[in-house]
Amino acid sequence: MCSSRRHFIATGVVGSLSLGLEAQEDKEQDSKRATTRTLAGKRPIIISANNGVNYLDEAFSFLKNGGDTLDAALRVVKGPEDDPKDDSVGLGGLPNEEGVVELDACCMHGPTRRAGSVGGVRNIKNVSQVAKAVMEHTGHVMLVGDGAERFAVAHGFARENLLTEHSRKVWLLWKEYHSTDDWWGPGVSDPHWKPPETAPQGELWQERLRKLQQIATDLGIAPENRAHAIRKVLFPPTGTIHSSALNEKGEISGCTTTSGLAFKLPGRVGDSPIIGAGCYTDQDVGSAGATGSGEENIKVAGAHTIVENMRRGMSPQEAGIDALKRIARNHNHDMNKLRFIDMTYYILRKDGAYAGVSLWEGYMPSPWEDPQPKRHKIAVHDGTKRAEETVPLFKGFSQEFPPFPKAPAEYVNQLK
Ligand code: GLY
Repeated sequence: MCSSRRHFIATGVVGSLSLGLEAQEDKEQDSKRATTRTLAGKRPIIISANNGVNYLDEAFSFLKNGGDTLDAALRVVKGPEDDPKDDSVGLGGLPNEEGVVELDACCMHGPTRRAGSVGGVRNIKNVSQVAKAVMEHTGHVMLVGDGAERFAVAHGFARENLLTEHSRKVWLLWKEYHSTDDWWGPGVSDPHWKPPETAPQGELWQERLRKLQQIATDLGIAPENRAHAIRKVLFPPTGTIHSSALNEKGEISGCTTTSGLAFKLPGRVGDSPIIGAGCYTDQDVGSAGATGSGEENIKVAGAHTIVENMRRGMSPQEAGIDALKRIARNHNHDMNKLRFIDMTYYILRKDGAYAGVSLWEGYMPSPWEDPQPKRHKIAVHDGTKRAEETVPLFKGFSQEFPPFPKAPAEYVNQLK
């Protein structure tokens, strides 16, 4: 699910940041969301992050016809992994700071209580399936980097360039935009060169947008893609997809796959390949997975915490909200920090009950995009396919960091 690490709010501070209103207690809101159920749900069922919604029909039919639960979940995440337009997963994922795509994934197979994982893999797009191969064809659980790539090739996975033209240009835009202190981007001999910005923060907006537009034009980014590219540069996303599947017999599995935080340090591994953080499945209890800030999720072992909470009797929603509260606790409930963090959990209990929960209701788009807030959603198929809003811990929308002042209308309009 493509959610930015640092979602921007054009309108300044959100009233609801005010702070720490725990939205899960708002019964009126909850009645609009179907993810609060504590009673048993239907089986079979597949859940995923919302970027999996287009792949649920085929995976559900596979599951209903007796297909394995892990293979069903893998069919969902393969869609975004193969899609060059999804820049958060697999082919076309945004690269690290050196322009190299590095992918992470893990999976857990409930019926056989096995797990597999890969981190920092280059040149192989279906890393969720490589994670499954690690599970099935090694005595290990996790392989990383070059070793994981060589293992994948040995198992017949094709090496390919994962950096699409669009992602390469977004990376170059990011590189040149941040290049006042290095040799990337045009130097002093360029006719458009200007000394580094020295104006007060509030006045830098116009100059930043002007500079980004100029570089995007020079790099040949098509006009219709410029606003999207600039958004990714200003607010590097941590897109990811998770899916869990449960069959009629009660067998359950899950997997998570990602290109991780855009423009990360080479070698950075997020939560997605960490068994117990990005994904955790226990055949006795259920399955959970995460999208959002990997660093925050690793510190609360989110997916494992949720499954253990359910084991102790919490509903899927209560279990997920508790994990989110632990993230809030890690920051001493300081809303000036928490408003820049976002996290979504997708939770499926062995009896078919499920929940999608998130730290915030969603995020606000950039001022030059569709002004409607983007709400976090969980995609579900239990015979009926749908996307449902998640239940948030806090009311309101996460913010981008660093918070930019409201942009003047003429500059916003230029980017529309
Ligand atoms: N949640 C994906 C990442 O942080 O890498």
